[in-house]
Amino acid sequence: KVQPVLLSGGSGTRLWPLSREAYPKQFLPLAGEHTMLQDTWLRVAPLAASAPIVVANEEHRFLAGEQLRLVGVEHADIVLEPVGRNTAPAIAAAALQATAGGDDPVLLVLPSDHVVRDADGFRAAVAQALPAAEAGALVTFGIVPSAPETGFGYIQAGPGEGVRPVLRFVEKPDAATARSYLDAGGYYWNSGMFLFRASRYLAELERFRPDILASVRAAFGAARRDGDFIRLDREAFAACPSDSIDYAVMEKTDDARVLPVDIGWNDVGSWSALWEVSEQDEHGNARHGDVIAVDSRNSYAYARRLVALVGVDDLVVVETDDAVLVAHKDKVQQVKDVVAKLKSDE
Ligand code: GDD
Ligand code: MG
Repeated sequence: KVQPVLLSGGSGTRLWPLSREAYPKQFLPLAGEHTMLQDTWLRVAPLAASAPIVVANEEHRFLAGEQLRLVGVEHADIVLEPVGRNTAPAIAAAALQATAGGDDPVLLVLPSDHVVRDADGFRAAVAQALPAAEAGALVTFGIVPSAPETGFGYIQAGPGEGVRPVLRFVEKPDAATARSYLDAGGYYWNSGMFLFRASRYLAELERFRPDILASVRAAFGAARRDGDFIRLDREAFAACPSDSIDYAVMEKTDDARVLPVDIGWNDVGSWSALWEVSEQDEHGNARHGDVIAVDSRNSYAYARRLVALVGVDDLVVVETDDAVLVAHKDKVQQVKDVVAKLKSDE
């Protein structure tokens, strides 16, 4: 059994206008009946030693608490960040919470905004990786790469079967480097899910980023508890440097391992990724809501009102109460620039 840690602090700006600061994608039912946070919990629940530790922005505390309650979590420990400082501090706060009672559980750190089609395969992989994590390794789950994506971490696996050594972990390489990894073979994408003992993560963070650990310790030490919420101290946490676990620990540690998995994983980071995982009609159109498609192919449409596509291919149309997005499916990475522009105009 493992202690699940659900990371729920992202803002999902590439899924604008559906994903908003006040209501980011992990709290939306983007890939089915449940929200992505709920699906993440339901997927891991059979492996869980206890309720999850959730780390989220304090603005989303009621969303997180209520959505988990609706899928049977009576009392989660919900660690609240007054500001986002990326995943290295968020996971450190979860590790401090997990060890506060003197235990040292194996943490299964999960992004709360991914799709995993094969939940049984996912649980089997965690069970397979557990002995290595219990023995002190920091285990990642590797995905066979399908394109030279620059938004992922790349893991070069050493020889062997099952849980393998990590020869190299490179977070978000440039396009040419990513291409060279694909050509070379033996590289996997980092899925962003991690399995390690709480104390091992804290020790590695202490070794490589003692500044981050000191800030989080201060913020956790001065945290205010109120019901399920653990409110990190604002001033101490704001003073924490911002960094991801990938740069802060995984690129540097000597104890990384990787278990390659084939579990229908998709990080649903953009509208085109969402199109890929959505149900499509015989022309490759994914339609959510009241959408009519005529002579159109491979498009994604999400509509509250009636939306019609006529004679268009590879288009993304997202219609909400206060905004409409029309984008080419190959350019959807740039949707985040819209959000940046809106923010700078504020
Ligand atoms: N609580 C909290 N606080 N959660 C956060 C924060 C934060 O400050 N920042 C991000 N998260 C959550 C996000 O909601 C998401 O679930 C997860 O942590 C990962 O953050 P992303 O911002 O989505 O990371 P990424 O996609 O750029 O890169 C990571 O995931 C890739 C796979 O999807 C890295 O681990 C890559 O190496 C990996 O390939
Ligand atoms: Mg992501």
